[in-house]
Amino acid sequence: MKIKQNYDLGKYMTFEYSKSKPTHNWFWYKEGFAPEIVEYAIGNSKPKIILDPFCGVGTTLLTAKQGGIESVGVDASSLAVFISKTKTENYSKEDIESVKSFLATKIKPEEGVRPLRWEFELFDARAAFPKRNYNQILALRNAIEQEEGKGRDLLLLALLSILPQASIIVKDGGVLKITRRKRALPAKEIFKRKVKKILEDLEQNEALEPVPQVFLGDARGLDLPEESVDLVVTSPPYLNNIDYSKIYGLELSLLHMSKAEAEETRMRAVRSFIGKKMDVQEMPPEVGEIGYRIPIIGTYFKDMEQSIAEMYRVLQDGGSTHIIVSNSVIHQTHVLVDEILAEIGERIGFEAEIIIGAERIADVKPQKIKTRESIVVLKK
Ligand SMILES: C[S@@+](CC[C@H](N)C(=O)[O-])C[C@H]1O[C@@H](n2cnc3c(N)ncnc32)[C@H](O)[C@@H]1O
Repeated sequence: MKIKQNYDLGKYMTFEYSKSKPTHNWFWYKEGFAPEIVEYAIGNSKPKIILDPFCGVGTTLLTAKQGGIESVGVDASSLAVFISKTKTENYSKEDIESVKSFLATKIKPEEGVRPLRWEFELFDARAAFPKRNYNQILALRNAIEQEEGKGRDLLLLALLSILPQASIIVKDGGVLKITRRKRALPAKEIFKRKVKKILEDLEQNEALEPVPQVFLGDARGLDLPEESVDLVVTSPPYLNNIDYSKIYGLELSLLHMSKAEAEETRMRAVRSFIGKKMDVQEMPPEVGEIGYRIPIIGTYFKDMEQSIAEMYRVLQDGGSTHIIVSNSVIHQTHVLVDEILAEIGERIGFEAEIIIGAERIADVKPQKIKTRESIVVLKK
């Protein structure tokens, strides 16, 4: 396996650069990357179909669409699938008019009828918002429920996207914290602003083809034929990172108005965090001793092994996969995620190269450990 550096890429391995880009910034997904990573992976190649099996909020898919390339995205979270689809659709004049008309006439006062119940699995959703915001959000959700067509999706995306700013919740590492000191912004106002911003972006956008296909699914078992894609660009959950069904649980529950979806998302997700079932028997040999000491490491790499085997199956000969990952420190142990994934890839049949994009210091008292973020490039 070759290892090289390209420190120009590090800044694109986070969502930072997506925050200022039209459409990419409709929904803030801290765990996302920037379109430049996808452009880098495409390089001078001319892929016909790009796959992102952990598509998140659709950065790969939107970038592919903007470049006129067909793409397929899969994610275990129905929230991610909804956001990806809504960001990458084409919208007709009628869709846009329906959104404008909603803004002009249907933003109901918060005292309106509220037949929908907001069930959230972690705590009463009321605790996450000032009372006025909670009522406004529910009234808006209720009014959106009466809408139809693609305009409805745009409105719902706008409402989901404002929840962090309208709440007194802070997403802190892997948990949601109610923080009474936090100033929540007025829900109805920021919703209106968001919808206007989406409309502005849509007015600048011409309808592009092909529209990506996005599926709810599991990267460990893709519902795609063999050798059907020629490039994979993706970033899986990081080891010991977060439980997406919890950290985006409020958004997920407002999308479905049900708490059941969180559990289903969790069942589909890669076992990347403590709390999921662990079984060291299944551990890939590349993990070594740390997998016995810290079983979540073994199960994480088992899931990643299955995902990489799937990438191999669906890739054509000559195709490649770019996996954006970060090395982790877990229980004071530095895990070289990029090297282990590259070795697993080689065993499966790929040629592997690691491109280090950034190095960071992890302060895991009493030690400071130098970790890195890389692209694991696997060529078939
Ligand atoms: C790091 S994020 C990807 C972000 C994406 N690159 C973007 O820019 O939006 C990882 C994603 O993997 C999804 N995920 C977790 N387990 C999965 C699985 N088994 N199959 C498919 N997606 C999964 C999570 O829901 C999350 O959206």
